[in-house]
Amino acid sequence: MQGFIIEGGSELKGEIRTSGSKNAALPMIAACLLINDEVRLHDCPCLSDVYSSVKILNTLGCKCSLSGGTLTVNCKAPVSDHIPDRLMRLMRSSALYLGACIGRLGSCTLSYPGGCELGARPIDLHLAALEKMGVCISEKHGVIECTCPGGLHGAHISLSFPSVGATENIMLAAALARGETVIYNSAREPEIADLAEFLRRCGADISGDGSSVIRINGVKALHGCEYSIMPDRIVAATYLCAAALAGGELMVTNSRIGQLRPVADVLCEAGCDIYGYDDRIYISRKRPLRAVKTIRTMPYPGFPTDAQPLITAVLSRAAGVSVVAENIFENRFRANPELVRMGARIRTEGRVAVIEGTDRLYGARVMAADLRAGAALTAAAISAQGITELGNIEYIDRGYERLEKALSSVGAVITRTQI
Ligand code: EPZ
Repeated sequence: MQGFIIEGGSELKGEIRTSGSKNAALPMIAACLLINDEVRLHDCPCLSDVYSSVKILNTLGCKCSLSGGTLTVNCKAPVSDHIPDRLMRLMRSSALYLGACIGRLGSCTLSYPGGCELGARPIDLHLAALEKMGVCISEKHGVIECTCPGGLHGAHISLSFPSVGATENIMLAAALARGETVIYNSAREPEIADLAEFLRRCGADISGDGSSVIRINGVKALHGCEYSIMPDRIVAATYLCAAALAGGELMVTNSRIGQLRPVADVLCEAGCDIYGYDDRIYISRKRPLRAVKTIRTMPYPGFPTDAQPLITAVLSRAAGVSVVAENIFENRFRANPELVRMGARIRTEGRVAVIEGTDRLYGARVMAADLRAGAALTAAAISAQGITELGNIEYIDRGYERLEKALSSVGAVITRTQI
């Protein structure tokens, strides 16, 4: 299998640019299905999830090309409303084609999405919302058939949980629906605001994004546009955590500290110096790391669940006892057993991890179990003593553009090879 060989022990030093956001790009690519025109998305990250999205659009009859970080999409004449199961299973974001497909074509046949196994990850909130908008849904043996005999109409939808994906799916379905849709308890993540801004640039009538009430007035049609995708705040957090673990100093460009405040605050409490400028973040760690108060993952603007594996790795090297509570996903401590193989002292019980910091981690043979767990193990291995072999790095390639190259450019010793 493909893996990283990581020689630990070197500090990080230099400047590293964050790529465009995966979790902003994926819903925007799905939104292109709504648009009978050409769209150009700049700073589009070269990730396997983006390639999977292109495969879905091609299957539906859209033309796509990706070069030099710009994805050009043309959905002038969709030819199908059916997304094959093998494509649905490639990632979680395939669920977003439900709203886009019904919004454009009035029907859709798909199956349950794939994605990192962080827990059950149902789409009940997505389906319940679309039914309120006039969608008839029948499900047989895992295949979900959606039709909209009376056409999509607006609705007032209260989400029992501020689900990112459900909020995005409703926005896509509502953009061309008849009348007003209001989402109460909507997700407030920056990627939602970026999607809304993209859709407005295409002529959609959306307001309230970033708050917990989003209003969408359906319009007749959307037109094409050029748009630059926001920076990936979780990739930026990954670089910051790698520097915190390895020591040294980094300037992370194309990133906004305001979108990462909870992560920056924890790293400062753990003993790092962090300064945010308008489009960059400086971090240095010259002192030993120290334990922090309990961390609880929450919907934005709380501590992001996607950074939880990364901060858990940092705290495994922090003197004292730290506690991390994972409140978003039921199975998101998948890096912990692998960190223990590297000498970390972590006790994981359900949704709580108790971390007794150690002053040293050791290279070992470990496996990535999901995207962010893989990134956390990479960061831990850079700071470990000795050689680490990290397998299943295809998970990492779903969310990072050549992570090994980016970190090697600032002093890490990582090679991609068969292991
Ligand atoms: C998005 O996933 C992100 N993925 C995730 O990032 C991120 O961790 C998550 O939001 C939370 O911020 C993308 O944007 C592609 P949710 P999503 O719907 O939309 C439950 C990464 O590492 N739920 O907010 O799937 C669900 O099970 C990935 O980049 C329902 O119960 O997240 C979970 O417990 C991982 N029913 C919680 O809500 C539903 O219908 C949050 O899920 C939908 C969700």
